[in-house]
Amino acid sequence: MDLELARRVRRHFRDHFGADGRCWFASGRVNLLGAHIDYHGGPVLPVAIDRGVFVAARARADRKVRLVSLNVDGDCEWSLDSPPTAAAAGWSAYPVGILAHLEQEGRRLPGFDLAFGGDVPIGAGMSSSAAILVVTAIAAAALAGFDLPPIEAARLAYRAETRYVGVKCGIMDPFASALGRRGHALWLDCRDESHELVPLPSERMAFVVLDSMTRRELRDGGFNRRVAESMAALSKLKARKPGLACLAEVGVDELDASRDALDDLEWKRARHVVTEVARVRRARELLRAGALLEFGQLMWLSHLSSRHFYEVSTERLDALQELALGHSACYGARLTGAGFGGCALAVVRKGEVEPFAAHVAARFEQRFGRRPDVYGLDFGGAPCEVQEE
Ligand code: GLA
Repeated sequence: MDLELARRVRRHFRDHFGADGRCWFASGRVNLLGAHIDYHGGPVLPVAIDRGVFVAARARADRKVRLVSLNVDGDCEWSLDSPPTAAAAGWSAYPVGILAHLEQEGRRLPGFDLAFGGDVPIGAGMSSSAAILVVTAIAAAALAGFDLPPIEAARLAYRAETRYVGVKCGIMDPFASALGRRGHALWLDCRDESHELVPLPSERMAFVVLDSMTRRELRDGGFNRRVAESMAALSKLKARKPGLACLAEVGVDELDASRDALDDLEWKRARHVVTEVARVRRARELLRAGALLEFGQLMWLSHLSSRHFYEVSTERLDALQELALGHSACYGARLTGAGFGGCALAVVRKGEVEPFAAHVAARFEQRFGRRPDVYGLDFGGAPCEVQEE
């Protein structure tokens, strides 16, 4: 994590609130495989990264909550007794959602002063929202004096994002932020929350982010539309098979046999989900065996499926993915996060990040007239308190 950024967040806190705060950090994530299947009960393979969100915080004697951020303009102030709606809360909807949910679920909280600062680009597919949710949850619990195990922080973050912010997302992002560990991908089965850490051959591989330099807001609607379209497919399949709980339970052959039950759009959405589930299952075995080339091919197929069947890619993300695959150091590349803009992720041979990044950035610039941000990423770890040096 960037300790210089932690110092700036503490300073920002002091400048605004005239005292020192304690400081916590939670990671963002990239997702190696498993696009748009967490909310269909599928398995996913995210990795916590060393970029994330810091919060400096202190408890207050009253019920006021005051929030400032290094990344976003506009201070917010509200009372725990009358929290604003998500729309009225603006950028502070995520931390507000956490605190409001803690209270609704029976915790009596003190007021807080909070200063945030992060180095995950917002709306880029690396889960700045889960990082801010998780870091707020662990800071609030520590300052209010109750125990909140990481998995509870992740569950709470999920409830706040779906119920308060109103994004129909799955559990992947907060679970990755709360349970990810250095050197590992998190295998998470979103149907029953079972999970395990899968060691990665980190001596042979490196992660590179390829930023399309376009952004999206999950609250904008495209994401929830995809959820609705694919849930419509599930409803029709359920009409034929009443016990069916989620799309991740449907096999590829089974879906083909039900082709006539779905219209073209529903079939495409469902087709992505069931094939992606099969890819992630296979990927776990390949990663365990250290078979990076074969794993990379699954990333490539995942991107194609996200592009043609789920239709969440963009021209720039497709270009980045193709340019990445054109370099010999690249094992695989795909869009990461929700898509609709944001970033692609490449897995490349260790030691070759720089020539790879230069190759992709120069060609992208030639084509789109803008140099993309392309950079290596390190592993993150568990959410933690950051001690002052
Ligand atoms: C967003 C959501 C996640 C997941 C991904 C797509 O990041 O928050 O729950 O659905 O998109 O895989």
